[in-house]
Amino acid sequence: MRNVAVIGAGQMGTGIAQTVAWHGMKVMLADVDLDRAEAGKANIEKAVTRLVGRGKLEADEAEALLGRITPVPDYAPMEAADLIIEAATEKEEIKQAIFEGASRVLGQGAIMASNTSSIPITRMANHSPDPKRFIGLHFFNPVPVMGLIEVIPGLATSQETTDAVIAFARGLGKEVVLSQDEPGFVVNRILLPMINEAVFVLGQSTAGIEDIDKGCRLGLNHPMGPLQLADFVGLDTCLDILMVLYKTTRDSKYRPAPLLVKYVEAGWLGRKTGRGFYDYTGGAPVPTR
Ligand code: 3HC
Repeated sequence: MRNVAVIGAGQMGTGIAQTVAWHGMKVMLADVDLDRAEAGKANIEKAVTRLVGRGKLEADEAEALLGRITPVPDYAPMEAADLIIEAATEKEEIKQAIFEGASRVLGQGAIMASNTSSIPITRMANHSPDPKRFIGLHFFNPVPVMGLIEVIPGLATSQETTDAVIAFARGLGKEVVLSQDEPGFVVNRILLPMINEAVFVLGQSTAGIEDIDKGCRLGLNHPMGPLQLADFVGLDTCLDILMVLYKTTRDSKYRPAPLLVKYVEAGWLGRKTGRGFYDYTGGAPVPTR
């Protein structure tokens, strides 16, 4: 792959764009409009500047990395891309609209991938011009730091497409886990019930926020406790993934904790809104109950 396009300039899309550019490839970055795409690049610039400040990246490398990222106003320039990665909100109708739009410019032989956390790949492939060239490519946040990419072929995905994205993922310095197209794939199928259970534990007042997180940090050696991780992922995203698991399997073990639903209804979505299980408005996270 030499030319990659990323659609969605939020947390995941910018992390993907930064990582791809870091590994020498050109990246087009799109969002609903050019302003959003440029704001995404500005966030990448901030992250890269921090790395230079901490001596992790040379200034000239940072400049070259940023030079490889081009915010674009729409999908038209993506006809030159070898790979288009959708990294938009975890809502199927939004993703479908993106696939339909990007399909009009998808080059012959180019691959379309979705960074979905849980939506079935086989179903979404139907909204692309060639399901043989459609695949799930699931990155983890923060993308430049996390060592894994899940690769999820749909029912119709060709072996050639699967091999090409595995090579791409390894070229980014990541390990690959290959998953069948089952709800939640491998990692989120395990992670989301854990986060959900932590919210039930909180809702039943078995322990407070700090102790639940401390328990998992120190008792399980997780870098973050499940409630802090939920805030980091976004409580709305956690709820969206749980609802996909719940609706597709109809298994009650995936029913969202009522407290999680309440937090999302309150607009307390985690770090991105300044408040979730922790309050981030003063910088360091402070437990809210
Ligand atoms: N680009 C490159 N490097 C970066 C970076 C960036 N944008 N941001 C941070 N880093 C590097 C730092 O330079 C640092 O490097 P060093 O170890 O060599 O010094 C390293 O990452 C750690 O960064 P910090 O020192 O700032 O922060 P912490 O040590 O507190 O670690 C964390 C932060 C990596 C986020 C850690 O707390 C962690 O691993 N948390 C769990 C994250 C996790 O589980 N993610 C998966 C979420 S699930 C998901 O994404 C799937 C989705 O579908 C829901």
